[in-house]
Amino acid sequence: MKPENLRSKIFLDGGDPEESREVISLLGFLDGQTTNPTLISKNPKAKERLTRGQKFTQNEIFDFYRSVVKTISALIPMGSVSVEVYADSATPADKMLTMGREMFSWIPNAHIKFPSSKEGLKAAEKAVKEGLRVNMTLCFTQEQAAAVYAATRGAGKGQVFVSPFIGRLDDRGENGMDLIASILKMYRQGDGHVEVLTASVRNMDHFLYALKLGSDIITSPYEILREWGQRGMPFPDANYIYRHDSLKNIPYKDIELSKNWQEYDIAHDLTVKGMEKFSKDWNDLIA
Ligand code: E4P
Repeated sequence: MKPENLRSKIFLDGGDPEESREVISLLGFLDGQTTNPTLISKNPKAKERLTRGQKFTQNEIFDFYRSVVKTISALIPMGSVSVEVYADSATPADKMLTMGREMFSWIPNAHIKFPSSKEGLKAAEKAVKEGLRVNMTLCFTQEQAAAVYAATRGAGKGQVFVSPFIGRLDDRGENGMDLIASILKMYRQGDGHVEVLTASVRNMDHFLYALKLGSDIITSPYEILREWGQRGMPFPDANYIYRHDSLKNIPYKDIELSKNWQEYDIAHDLTVKGMEKFSKDWNDLIA
């Protein structure tokens, strides 16, 4: 059962429904799941097929992604399942949107992941107006989160998530958890239509500190949720301190949320690199 004092929604970050089953059985609940092209490429059935030397065709890979997502969706019908569009540096917004519409029809509880890039935001702006739920991924700055807020103004509660990637900031010596704290603080001046989904969680301290900060949603790899479950689902108490010894602080910026999204400086090299990596992992599955 979900602990009563736990306000954050807990998602599993993964592309294997077997992990979803195990987490549900261990925790007694699961509020949602996030997938991405890299995680789908790590699905055991996909790996097994590739080991046999059999790559997928374009149609087969989408069918495979759909079948994985459908299985996960059936396990958590009241939850949310994030499904990511293919987006490389040349993918235009209208192509992302077409793909997003198709993926949204796969299951009743999808959030469509678009990158926090110019084309991704353009696609999301339209998607939200059409009633799609979106999860803006590869977010590395407060400006990108402000642009997500502005591009999706008017969206309903639960319709929009933003996914700041903390682990990838840590990887280059910046304190990713600062970004979570800053976006939560910045959004307090808004209407609450965007939920902060802490992503790229690499260790138990990321998870516990995100709980302490009150992140709306936290998505974590299987191993972390298993450890948290085995430890009795602890919640950090008032004395909990997040230790980030060698990481450089990312200072809070005063950013207004009232501008048009095109006015924010949303460029970030990790967004570009992330799109390259996701599209490469996806293309590597295809013959
Ligand atoms: C989830 O939505 C993200 O795609 C995922 O957390 C990224 O994690 P990584 O930075 O460990 O690849």
